[in-house]
Amino acid sequence: MASDRPRALSGIQPTSGSFHLGNYLGAIRQYVALQETHDAFYMVVDLHAITMPQDPKDLRANTRLSAAQLLAAGLDPERCTLFIQSHVPEHAQLGWVMNCITGFGEASRMTQFKDKSAKSGANNATVGLFTYPILQVADILLYQADSVPVGEDQRQHIELTRDLAERFNQRFGDTFTLPAAHIVKEVAKIYDLQDPAIKMSKSASSPKGLINLLDEPKVTEKKIKSAVTDTEAVIRFDTENKPGVSNLLTIYSTLTGESIPALEAAYEGKGYGALKTDLAGVMVDFVTPFKQRTQEYLDDPETLDSLLAKGAEKARAVAAETLAQTYDRLGFLPAKH
Ligand code: TRP
Repeated sequence: MASDRPRALSGIQPTSGSFHLGNYLGAIRQYVALQETHDAFYMVVDLHAITMPQDPKDLRANTRLSAAQLLAAGLDPERCTLFIQSHVPEHAQLGWVMNCITGFGEASRMTQFKDKSAKSGANNATVGLFTYPILQVADILLYQADSVPVGEDQRQHIELTRDLAERFNQRFGDTFTLPAAHIVKEVAKIYDLQDPAIKMSKSASSPKGLINLLDEPKVTEKKIKSAVTDTEAVIRFDTENKPGVSNLLTIYSTLTGESIPALEAAYEGKGYGALKTDLAGVMVDFVTPFKQRTQEYLDDPETLDSLLAKGAEKARAVAAETLAQTYDRLGFLPAKH
């Protein structure tokens, strides 16, 4: 891992059992690709997870499960740093500092907070949920990240990160790198198979629209085959008039690397049944080994946990240096050793 490479950092929440296809195509695939070009840091953000109520047993299991799935998807601990956020205490520490330079109004404008707090009922939202984006700022700045691979919905949080980094640098001297969001447009959005007007997400109305990577391959096949299309019976990419078919083409193209025009040409004169059968085959070939590799990591938690311990150690070396510099700039009296 050459340290002259630009640095990438991202985090994923351990709140769902199985990752879904939208997570994978929208974010995780980019994580895997960036290992080749960047000094990449990836973490499972358990501190963020507790901004919503979590059952402790599930949280622990889902944290391991998330790490196992990231490894199964192709993150290689030799080529990136994979860790659990709470294993690196500097996140909470820098988070506090960032809280103290964020305006209340500024934090109030974060749309993800507005959405999530509306869902849980205005009076049930916690202060933790309110300051969620500010902890995310700390996550990014601790590693002096240049690039942050995320989905479109995270753009505002990256903007906040840049604003706070700039503000701190101006007040206290150059300390933090200003990061850029790394959003791959074409695959940033995978839509629900039953309701292609909405993003694929685990909170969607029907489970039939959601492809979980750890579903039984038979189930995945069935979901693809019952995906909503339209009555035109022509395979053409047209998100406006044919959102269902276009979504299937996006998924197909992203998983196989075949271009959309090439797919349109290949399916000229063929029906939706043919497209769905082939795509179901592509999906099954993808999820079968994914599921198997995930299980291998889960069956050997000791190996998994020691991988994560090594990751945390590497992450801490970087995070501690940034935090020490930040504390110094703020004028904190150093503790005597
Ligand atoms: N908020 C991000 C999401 O919901 C998760 C996240 C936490 C994150 N910390 C991060 C993403 C740091 C990028 C960088 O997807």
